[in-house]
Amino acid sequence: MSRRQLLNFLTGGAVAVTAASALYPVGRFFLPPVEGDGSGSVIAKDKLGNPIPAAQILAEPIGTRALIAGIAGEPTYLTINADGALSERGLVDSCTHLGCTFPWNPTAGQFQCPCHGSRYAPDGSVERGPADRPLKLVRVAVVNEAIVVSPWTERDPRTGETPWWV
Ligand code: FES
Repeated sequence: MSRRQLLNFLTGGAVAVTAASALYPVGRFFLPPVEGDGSGSVIAKDKLGNPIPAAQILAEPIGTRALIAGIAGEPTYLTINADGALSERGLVDSCTHLGCTFPWNPTAGQFQCPCHGSRYAPDGSVERGPADRPLKLVRVAVVNEAIVVSPWTERDPRTGETPWWV
């Protein structure tokens, strides 16, 4: 290899590395978060399996409980907080008594299980049995305009204890 070829090779390599390092973050910005990264995180989807843009949920009124398909397709309630932001706490729509799904009753301000009458507070705490455990939590975050749902593995803020599902 001649001296000219070596200099051309080194210059080209330096330009390519510089361009790639500058363009990589730009490219990542326009790509939705990757699923299957080993963390168990998924992108919130509708019942047809299409990703739900965060703006679609955030356009709903304050106090809305929006159902999405979360981790492993579990129906999961998202909450619009009083400040208009999405709550970081999602609630899995599966009664801790025997697993029925349940609606949010905005008049009563409760999740009300139709199977055996359990009632849950807005944060998923049990207000009336036979259920004896709070609703399963998942972590919710908006990343690049997508809603990312992740397993909640930290202390349960409602009980102050290790979550029953961990
Ligand atoms: S399954 Fe909900 S109260 Fe029994």
